[in-house]
Amino acid sequence: MIDMDSAHQSADAAETIFAGSRFVRACLRKPVDRTPVWFLRQAGRYMQEYRDVRKHHTLVEICKNPELAAEVTITAAEKLGVDAAIIFADLLLPLEPMGLDFEFQAGEGPVVHHPVRSAADVKALRVDRAGDLAYVARAIEKVAGHFRDRLGVIGFCGAPYTLASYMIEGGGSRNYIHTKQMMYRDPIAWSSLLDKLVAVLTEYCRLQVQAGADVIQIFDSWVGSLSLSDYRAYSFEAAKRLVRAVQAMGVPVIYFGVETTGLLRQMAETGADVIGLDWRQPLDEGWRAVGHGRAVQGNLDPITLFAPQEVLEQRVGEILRAAGGRVGHIFNLGHGIVPGTPVENVQAVARMVREFRIAAANE
Ligand code: CP3
Repeated sequence: MIDMDSAHQSADAAETIFAGSRFVRACLRKPVDRTPVWFLRQAGRYMQEYRDVRKHHTLVEICKNPELAAEVTITAAEKLGVDAAIIFADLLLPLEPMGLDFEFQAGEGPVVHHPVRSAADVKALRVDRAGDLAYVARAIEKVAGHFRDRLGVIGFCGAPYTLASYMIEGGGSRNYIHTKQMMYRDPIAWSSLLDKLVAVLTEYCRLQVQAGADVIQIFDSWVGSLSLSDYRAYSFEAAKRLVRAVQAMGVPVIYFGVETTGLLRQMAETGADVIGLDWRQPLDEGWRAVGHGRAVQGNLDPITLFAPQEVLEQRVGEILRAAGGRVGHIFNLGHGIVPGTPVENVQAVARMVREFRIAAANE
């Protein structure tokens, strides 16, 4: 069923709507000729071209070299035939100008050498050096200059809660014990930490927008570790402030997290233009929780990309039919592409989305 507020996708517009504006229009819930598509972690180790670059450079070296970062970003987007390119960078880059050194250890993910554990540690964090992240802006300029209007360019940053969890745990975590301890035991230090993150992330996003990012995605990847009460009490306000600050720069914001089924309604209250959905509930149920006044992005299980073509087709069709041609759906995964994913399956999904027509699906 198509609701009153949905817009039929018009084939006539196909020639005139560029992929980039198609993506931005969907973020703003404007009618589009077809559903735009891109993939979380679309540039990464599953792709041979990226592994070739990685043979000669570390992850952080690639991030800090605008030429290489732009090349990796552009290659992935072109190879997949998607509507948007997310700048090649990492969530943890802002830790360095704040005074925290980290490294990526093979197979273990990020390690922060001196995690933040006390009020004094929070106090020592610097907020005046977001400008050190200008290398990301230089890479965005190159990508935006390359694609012009052809593709949307996405800048990104971590949400305050998710970045705080890396700073406090010193890396990834299963139970977030240190993070929640600071939250519960020292709410003043906790809110000071989030304030500092909002200050740095706002300036970091401003650099990205000024450099040509069309949209900013805020990754609150691990917000699903919080109960709804704790999200409201300890994390929501900072996320909302960041969302609003970025919107005031004139670009739409995508706000994304994983295992967020119980949080979606509150996440939408940040005012983000688009809410990223994971794959654990059907897209239409997630969208209902978010409210149809906002756009949604998602939500194929990234591991479906290991399935045979028929299964892939089925799952992609399910998601597009659940979206029902309503304005404001961006096709994506529910989380990032993992190493080992067959590239041809990612390309096939991009093709399925490009070729899907709601009218055909309703026959
Ligand atoms: O196209 C793209 O999306 C690539 C750009 C990108 C990277 N990191 C590069 C990267 C993006 C958007 C990120 C975001 C990021 N980084 C997130 C949020 C996204 C999510 O998945 O929820 C998070 C939580 C991080 C932190 C991070 N970086 C982790 C946990 C890891 C280790 C993961 C692993 O599988 O080893 C990284 C490393 C990382 N960042 C890689 C890439 C391509 C892989 C490692 C490498 O190339 O050496």
